[in-house]
Amino acid sequence: MKALIASGGRGTRLRPITHTQNKHLIPIANKPILYYSIEAAAEAGIKEIGIVHNADSREVPEYVGDGSRWGVKITYIPQEKPGGLAEVVMISEKFIAGDEFIFYLGDNLLVGGIKRFIDEFQKSKCNCFLTLSRVKDPERFGVPEIRDGRIIGVEEKPKKPKSNFAVAGIYLYDKHIFEAVKSLKPSARGELEISDAHQYLIDNGFKVGYTEITGWWKDTGKPADLLEANRLILDAIALRIDGEVDSTSEVAGKVIIEPGARIIKSKIRGPVIIGKNSIIEDSYIGPFTSIGDRTEVRNSEVEYSIVLRDCKIQSVSLRLEGSILGNDVEIVEASGKPRVHRFMIGDQSRVEVA
Ligand code: DAU
Repeated sequence: MKALIASGGRGTRLRPITHTQNKHLIPIANKPILYYSIEAAAEAGIKEIGIVHNADSREVPEYVGDGSRWGVKITYIPQEKPGGLAEVVMISEKFIAGDEFIFYLGDNLLVGGIKRFIDEFQKSKCNCFLTLSRVKDPERFGVPEIRDGRIIGVEEKPKKPKSNFAVAGIYLYDKHIFEAVKSLKPSARGELEISDAHQYLIDNGFKVGYTEITGWWKDTGKPADLLEANRLILDAIALRIDGEVDSTSEVAGKVIIEPGARIIKSKIRGPVIIGKNSIIEDSYIGPFTSIGDRTEVRNSEVEYSIVLRDCKIQSVSLRLEGSILGNDVEIVEASGKPRVHRFMIGDQSRVEVA
């Protein structure tokens, strides 16, 4: 059993953060999204992982490395342009070399690991095994049609979904998936769709099974998904204080304070993670907030937010909430008169002011 992880694509729905950073390297609870899938594969006992990445960037290979820190071997597979998930599978045929494999979309997050899916797939003797999750908005996903406990069709982002299930981005295959992906023509959006490959397998008499994801699963395609994923991951952390908390500060609930971080005259109400060498002074950090490394928050309040590394938040009079701040972002009090908002904001940013 091998694992194939997709980390290409353009991440357009997460701009401006993805202008300078691959979306799979955006941290959730201070850990790159992509690491969660690598860890899940390693935990399930998989030793060989292929990661498909954009051919025009070495960002993912350079950041993630050879896999030795997880005890796995990572092979990088460049994709010339984001031609669709079926293309991701197609260009990985040499790496897979006839083995069974789990295909994991690197922007998907899941609690509880993937071992159960691998066991069920192998027991089922299916050629293709899909993981399904009940969602409120199936039209955003691949959607199965299920009759008498069998999948009889899969449609990609249908206007009229035939069930309330999303096909999650965690698929299990044997070698027959390559026959399916090679048979496809690009869809209306110009991609080789993985849902069409599943439909091919169904139409050609292959065994397509499924299991329901009972815990939470998240596709982190949109900014609100990142905040929600951050909430879900932080909800499961355990208290660990390696940094310094002064005697006038108050820390309540599940909080991680990394080494070198300092909490001074502040209130931290978990679940919260504060990154290495960050400083929180005269401030309040509220539930479901991740603060990256070397970030300073002074005389301000932040809640339900993701703040990446090397940011500065200083004397902001209104609480920051539901916010995502990229790397090296500054929000500071404007000095002097008249009292003004003064912005220096990159392309495709969004600011809401009161
Ligand atoms: O998250 C589950 C959904 O993922 C499924 O329900 C859909 O059937 C499936 O098509 C896919 O839909 P998305 O619209 O979310 O796919 P997206 O384009 O966002 O790509 C998913 C991941 O794969 C993301 O991590 C980027 C990567 N990717 C995508 C394409 C199109 C690649 O590495 N190469 C590509 O060519």
